[in-house]
Order: sequence, then C-alpha cells, then structure tokens
Amino acid sequence: MHSLGILLSGRGSNFVSIADSIDARRIADARISVVISNRAEATGIASARERGLTALVIPSKGKPREAHDREVVSALKQHQVDLVCLAGYMRLLSPWFVQQFPRRILNIHPSLLPAFPGLEAQEQAFVYGVKVSGCTVHFVDEELDHGAIIVQKVVPVLDGDDERTLAARILEQEHVAYPEAINLVLRGNFEILGRRLQVKNEK
Ligand code: GRF
Repeated sequence: MHSLGILLSGRGSNFVSIADSIDARRIADARISVVISNRAEATGIASARERGLTALVIPSKGKPREAHDREVVSALKQHQVDLVCLAGYMRLLSPWFVQQFPRRILNIHPSLLPAFPGLEAQEQAFVYGVKVSGCTVHFVDEELDHGAIIVQKVVPVLDGDDERTLAARILEQEHVAYPEAINLVLRGNFEILGRRLQVKNEK
C-alpha cells in the first residue's frame, strides 16, 4: 500500500480530487497518510479533517526555510510517506527537502510548462494572448516549476474568456491530470531519459 503525503496552503481542490480518486479506486493501492498545511486557515485542512484524515498545520511564517522544511519532512517520515504531492503548496522547497524524497515529490502547475512558471500562471497566459493553455504535473527538483514532466492537459483559450473562466477550465483538467500522474508514478512503469518520461511497454 502506497502512502501519500499532501502539502497544501489553500483551497485544496486538487487534494480533494486525489482523495476522491483513491476512494473510488481510480488510484489503486494508495492511501493519504497525512495532509500538511503551512497555513492554519487553509480550506484544504478543514476538508481533510472532514474526511477523517490526519491533518497537520506546520506554520511557516517567520521561520527560516530549511527549519520549516525539517519539521515538514519529519512529519512526512513519521507517517511513512513514500510519495509527496504538492497541491497548491505556496512554498519553494529547499534543496535539502527535495533530496529527502528523490523523484518522489510531484507538483501541479496551471500552465503548459515551461511557459508561465511562477505565480498566477493562468493570468500570465491570458494576458500573453496564448490560444491554448493547460496544466502540468511534474517531478519537483531544485528549481521552480522545473522537473521532468509526467502529464500535461491542454485547454483552449476562448474569445469570451477572462482570467477566471480560463482558470476554471484549467482547474477541471488539473483534477483529471493529478490522479493520472499519481497512478503512473505509483505503477513505476516508466523511465526518465534526460528530461523525457517514457512509459515502458506493459506486458
Ligand atoms: C492550482 O491551480 C494548482 O495548479 C496550483 O495551485 C492551485 C491550487 O488549487 N499549484 P487547489 O488548492 O488545489 O484548489
């Protein structure tokens, strides 16, 4: 049984889509062992508690990055987490954190990386005038929004869109992409050549 740790800072809709996928067995052989937020007021933490999951708040405010990361990693290890899923976690991980879970940390970003890394990606894409955007689930490495890509989903940008309608269309696809990526990673049936993730032939 795989043990997932979810890190979030806010709304938590990606966390809910992962939890629903586990409950519906669309993600096989996994459970969420702990949900951690750096912000007490995160809605995602309340949703986790409603589902009866272990939900911890480890405040980051005023702490040096690595000191906070050490507390988070120790909670993840205490709960024997083997896959860490960042789901709207508004903190950059220290290199030390990344090294604790080699190729076992995933992130979701609301653009087609490498376009529009960083904050407010949907708005960046909208303002730039792209005709398609989407979302990316990728491994976390030591650079922001940078590791090998696992799954991407494309959505059109329509004439009547504004930043909010575009973000909502992207979010729908995020909720499909993240469970798909987790399944792929847990199955382990892939190799990474350079930056390219390639699924091996299933026999
Ligand atoms: C999502 O758009 C995700 O791609 C980004 O932060 C947002 C989190 O939303 N990293 P939610 O908290 O999962 O609803």
